[in-house]
Amino acid sequence: MSSTAVARNRAELAAARAGLGGTVAVVMTMGALHAGHIELVRQARKRADAVIMTIFLNPLQLGPGEDLAKYPRTFDEDLKLCIEEGVDLVFAPSPDVMYPNGEPGIRVTAGPLGNLLEGASRPGHFDGVLTVVAKLLHLTRPDLAFFGQKDAQQLLMIRRMVSDLDYTCDIVAVPTVREADGLALSSRNMHLSAFDREAALALSRALMAGEAVSAEGASAVRRAAREVQIREPLALVDYLVLVHPDTLEDVPEWYRGPAVLLVAARVGTTRLIDNVPLTVGRVPNAGSGQARA
Ligand code: PAJ
Repeated sequence: MSSTAVARNRAELAAARAGLGGTVAVVMTMGALHAGHIELVRQARKRADAVIMTIFLNPLQLGPGEDLAKYPRTFDEDLKLCIEEGVDLVFAPSPDVMYPNGEPGIRVTAGPLGNLLEGASRPGHFDGVLTVVAKLLHLTRPDLAFFGQKDAQQLLMIRRMVSDLDYTCDIVAVPTVREADGLALSSRNMHLSAFDREAALALSRALMAGEAVSAEGASAVRRAAREVQIREPLALVDYLVLVHPDTLEDVPEWYRGPAVLLVAARVGTTRLIDNVPLTVGRVPNAGSGQARA
């Protein structure tokens, strides 16, 4: 097995990148790696000859209330996992390396989609995400870039950016990795007490309840999901919506076809998001879509 190179700045990255041959994939992360991130790496390794992981806690995408200092930093453990998983190159720059002139004046604008759902609660978030993803795509020059379905809106916006700004790489989506009881893996889960964690299960339960009745139409999906959510008063719902996967607009009651059921809720002090892609008007396939940890 080849060894894992670590690059901390542009020169080191360029030198290590030049040594990678064949099809190159990138997996972008903010560190604090869990089985969801690892699944992205495993899928990337199946499709590419070499895998680059970027680990960068991007200050540009965190709002004023989202504490940079509170975000878990576990670089040594992250690097160990990358070595175990056969990642070829880890790019782990500091903020000074990524933003040598301070916060960039020129950024990628997410546009109207960036103001919906997550964007409504987190102004400027998607501009920050897209700006760093754009930079990391330029720096790593991948053929393929892997992102999780867990962050469905982020995935959609990255696909749009790649298309609108003529990037040549392919974006590959990886289904959400969950705990055995359904909780979607997230670096934020470590902030949940055992008590909160129980309440947090309402998110995935609501999604599964909606998915189970997807054959019955949009109203049935919404009703089933809300019923589960309403029974858990400790999960304070920000949104629970059934939307079209391309526009993020609510699908009408008569709609048949692909949709996404998305939820965001605060449990204690932790904001959680989850979603499930489904087909309205069709019985869900057993075991489709969502991977287990
Ligand atoms: P981060 O939250 O670290 O997530 C990195 C990647 O892992 C994203 O593509 C995310 O969707 C995916 N991921 C997270 N949890 C997952 C799960 N349970 N199952 C499958 N995939 C999962 O998302 C970001 O970082 C940042 O916004 C980034 C894209 C790196 C830009 O800074």
